[in-house]
This record gives sequence, C-alpha cells and structure tokens, in this order.
Amino acid sequence: MSVTTPPEVLPAAGEPCWCGSGRKYKRCHKPLEGRVVPGVVSPMRSVPEAIVKPSYADTGKVARWDEPKIKSPDVVERLRYACDMAADILRLAGEFVKPGMTTDDIDVFVHEETVRRGAYPSPLNYHGYPKSVCTSLNEVICHGIPDSTVVRDGDIINLDVTCYVKGVHGDTNATFLVGDVDDESKLLVRVAEECMWKGIEAVAPGQPLSDIGKAIENHAKAHRMGVIRAFIGHGIGEQFHTDIQVLHYYDARNSMVMRPGMTFTIEPMISLGTWQHKMWDDDWTAVTADGKRTAQFEHTVLVTETGVEVLTANGAVSPSAPWKR
Ligand code: MF3
Ligand code: CO
Ligand code: CO
Repeated sequence: MSVTTPPEVLPAAGEPCWCGSGRKYKRCHKPLEGRVVPGVVSPMRSVPEAIVKPSYADTGKVARWDEPKIKSPDVVERLRYACDMAADILRLAGEFVKPGMTTDDIDVFVHEETVRRGAYPSPLNYHGYPKSVCTSLNEVICHGIPDSTVVRDGDIINLDVTCYVKGVHGDTNATFLVGDVDDESKLLVRVAEECMWKGIEAVAPGQPLSDIGKAIENHAKAHRMGVIRAFIGHGIGEQFHTDIQVLHYYDARNSMVMRPGMTFTIEPMISLGTWQHKMWDDDWTAVTADGKRTAQFEHTVLVTETGVEVLTANGAVSPSAPWKR
C-alpha cells in the first residue's frame, strides 16, 4: 500500500521513503520537503452586474488590438485612478496576511475590496485564470493561484493586484514577510524591491528600454542573485498586457526607445539561486527550477518629459529618487 501524506517522524536520507515506493527517502520525497504543493482551488467568484467588465470576463478569451503606445491625457488620468486603487488594495492585502490563513482567504479579501470600489479584478478569467489575485509563496515565481494552501510563519508571499476600472488596468505587486522570516529571505525581498527601484530610476525619455534591465541585472548580480527571464514587464492601458516588453536583464535587442506618454510595468523577479523556472501542471504556477526562494515587486509607470511617474506608488517614492507627481 502506498501513502500520500508524510508521517510525523521522517526517515533518514538513506532509509526507504515513507511513501512505499521502495526508493531511498533522499531519492524520493525528501527533495519535496517544505516545498509549495498545489492545494484545492475553490469555485470561481462572481462580480456584481453593475461593474463594467473587460471583454474576457465572460469568455476567458483575450481580444488583442493595436493600442497607442503613447497614452492620451484622458487615458493617463484614468490610469492614475486604476493604479491608485490597485496600490491601495495591495497595501491592505499585505496587512491582512497572517500565518494560518489560506491563500484563498487572501483572494476573497482582494476580490471583495476590488468590487466594493466598483472595479473588476483583472486576473479573474484572464486567459481563464480562475482567481482575482496572484498569490506566490516562497519558490513560486509568479501567477500562484489562490487555493487551500495555508500560509505559515516564516513564509514570503507575493501578492499581485490588478484593477480594471474606468476602462483601464492598474497593475502592482509586492512581496510580504509572514511572521518571523530568516535573514537570507529578508535580504532577498529587500534586494528584489531595490532592483525594481533601480529599474524605475533608469526610465528616461529618449533612452532604450534595455537600460531598465541593465540596472536591474547589475544590482541582482552584485548580491549574487538571479534574475528570472521567462516573465517580463509589459505595456498596460486599456489592455492588461500590450506589446511593449520590458526585460529585467540586459539584452541589447530590447531597444525600443522610451517616449513621454508610454505606460508599462517594471516587475523584476529575483531568486536566491537559478534564473531558470519550471511550470506546474496547472500551466500558471511558475516555480524556480532549484526550489530556492524568489521575490518580486511591481509598479506601473508613466514615462514623462523629464523622467518617470510611478502610477502605483500612492504617494510613496523611491528612497533615492523622490519624484514629484
Ligand atoms: N499581474 C500579472 C502581471 O504583472 C499578470 C497576472 S495574469 C493572471 O503581469 F492571469 F495570472 F492574472
Ligand atoms: Co504586470
Ligand atoms: Co501584476
């Protein structure tokens, strides 16, 4: 007979695995110890009729159209509103997280806070994504799906909040410490946030987008940390993701020139080990290939005549670049 849940007392590395496979513990379940594993996903939540929804809300299919890269003042004004809202909900969600709750509890919180403000939670049914926020724990790089997984003391968790309101999306995320977190993870989270700000500080009209990735990669490297490559920043506006691509590592081919009025996200994912990733069978959850922890921060930004405006900063500014709004 084979068992699926580990016993209270685990075998030594060289002893047979507790699962009954006949293999040594170290060659079987030991590598999975302490890893994030898929939980049970609850049914999709609904959004009140009165809330204006993006076209994919009912179908899960994302229509793509050619959206101007340079936003009109009207779109920028609406983006400020959506971005302020996302920043607000992200901050509240971070304060809400406590050891013992499930990631689904966090989803309920974000969902309710979003619809209460008259907005649609952009992730919900985006390409079929089943929840209203992404909750990415420990070695989960991004797009973790809220489920029955319990958040524990010592975890780090990224919450990625996007609001659709006034016809535009505002996108922001942050990694939060849960209870008493080890020093290495704390450093990871700090460096990831610094990397995001280094990227933001590199935003300037007339400069190539590759300046952003260069700044991020240099800072990560200085701390011997990895920059995840498979997921990138993106143009944003009336569509959640547009064709502007923002790499978080240096590549000369990321040569599009930044122009005033462009809006995009900067959202580096930094790891304690490799930059390589693996996907879970759900086709959403991305984890580090080596199982080491990873942290991410994200802001939506606007290129201005003189530099950058951080649309999702809600008044907060970089320690080294106090931009005026
Ligand atoms: N908010 C994520 C980003 O920063 C995208 C999430 S897509 C979803 O681009 F479908 F997973 F919600
Ligand atoms: Co984004
Ligand atoms: Co996001």
